[in-house]
Amino acid sequence: MQNFLDTAIMAAKAAGALQRERLWLEHDIAFKGESNLVTEVDTACEELIVGAIRGRYPDHDILAEENDYIALNSSYKWIIDPLDGTTNYAHGFPWFGVSIALEIEGEVQAGVVYHPMMNELFTAAKGEGAFLNGGRIQVSRRTPLKNCLLATGFPYDRSWDNENNFANFEKMQIAARAVRRAGAAALDLAYVAAGRLDGYWECKLKPWDVAAGKLLVEEAGGRATNHSGEHYSVYDHRILVSNGLIHGEMMEALKAVRSET
Ligand code: IPD
Ligand code: CA
Ligand code: CA
Repeated sequence: MQNFLDTAIMAAKAAGALQRERLWLEHDIAFKGESNLVTEVDTACEELIVGAIRGRYPDHDILAEENDYIALNSSYKWIIDPLDGTTNYAHGFPWFGVSIALEIEGEVQAGVVYHPMMNELFTAAKGEGAFLNGGRIQVSRRTPLKNCLLATGFPYDRSWDNENNFANFEKMQIAARAVRRAGAAALDLAYVAAGRLDGYWECKLKPWDVAAGKLLVEEAGGRATNHSGEHYSVYDHRILVSNGLIHGEMMEALKAVRSET
């Protein structure tokens, strides 16, 4: 597993360095929808990461945000968000990162989230704990929900689809101490793992947003489910993670919104 992690770390750091270097330069911005941006740095970082992985593991499958890759039917699949937080990046708001996970036989077994502006590297391997720059991390022990700091995000189709997370946000903003919307799901998850946030939920995320971060949270002693407390796969849409202690209260708040709407 360490060899896989080393590859992910090397690729994440190289992509992060590129992101740092180019942050405040002018960007070529394209649109994948009304508000879903992609910059030349997203695609350059994906090329760099995929190149690094393919160089070492040419037979492994790749699932990454910016391109489709031919399926090789391997039991190893790398799940990559080359630049999580693209809207921030395109605006020069320095809050974004790289997320790389390795799924083996359908289960995420290794994950790396790198925050280039803070030079913080979050790593986890299944059953081996979660680490920040090599030091062990754990979720917070904060409780109850009213004393907790949460994070969330809003989907790109929020202006025309009703599942926009607005009502959930309102409910949690009142139930918790505060809710942050920083704009990079992978960092939100890594921050729950590190105990800097106590919980996080979102809807309509993609596997590359959550694969590494979910493993980080679980390996840091936290809990990851869907919004109803059931099993959550990285291919599902509604994620809820927490320090475990406030999970029930967060589920209740989300349930209350469902019954009101
Ligand atoms: C987005 C960010 C954001 C979340 C969006 C994601 P991207 O990823 O993680 O925080 O709210 O749903 O799509 O597009 O910047 O890689
Ligand atoms: Ca993302
Ligand atoms: Ca992205």
